[in-house]
Amino acid sequence: MIEIGDLPLYNQDLDANPPEQWVRFRRQIGEADGVLFCSPEYNRGIPGVLKNAIDVGSRPYGQSVFDKKPAAIVTASPGSIGGFGSNHQIRQAAVFLNMPVMQQPEAYLGHVSDDSFDESGCLKDGALKDIITGLAHAFANWVDMIHRSRQLLAEDSSHRAQNAEKAKEHA
Ligand SMILES: Cc1cc2nc3c(=O)[nH]c(=O)nc-3n(C[C@H](O)[C@H](O)[C@H](O)COP(=O)(O)O)c2cc1C
Repeated sequence: MIEIGDLPLYNQDLDANPPEQWVRFRRQIGEADGVLFCSPEYNRGIPGVLKNAIDVGSRPYGQSVFDKKPAAIVTASPGSIGGFGSNHQIRQAAVFLNMPVMQQPEAYLGHVSDDSFDESGCLKDGALKDIITGLAHAFANWVDMIHRSRQLLAEDSSHRAQNAEKAKEHA
């Protein structure tokens, strides 16, 4: 869980001497294996506070902490559309930010309200909890697959480089 409510509004003029909250947020995302965006929907789109966090993490230009991070998007709403508009606006930004975004299962969670949670803030047992549990496992597998694939590709290309060197020596 990464705090985004305290981030000053993104302003490129501040990048030379960034607010400490930006520095903390960028470091936390930078250290993460993946990013699971969880959001409500405001006026059929991304709530401003989340859009601001995405903007803060994406800069300075060329130093985005989101680059290549595996991601997934979960939206929830008391209504029946489940934050579909917000979900796809987040996805649009994530695609631009070069994040491999999990495509399935999709997560537009409708009819989520205070009643869905117990007094300690945990989801009550039931269909919603089962869906969220499935999503969590799918996301963990997605993050693992992206990192392992990159590692295998790196090993493969290093073996090919070594073999090419050996072939040159023997030629
Ligand atoms: C400014 C505003 C806009 C909203 N727009 C939508 C909307 O477009 N779609 C929707 O499903 N719910 C909408 N809602 C209802 C939110 O889904 C609901 O209030 C939710 O609990 C907000 O989560 P939050 O309390 O974590 O911000 C809106 C709420 C607010 C305050």
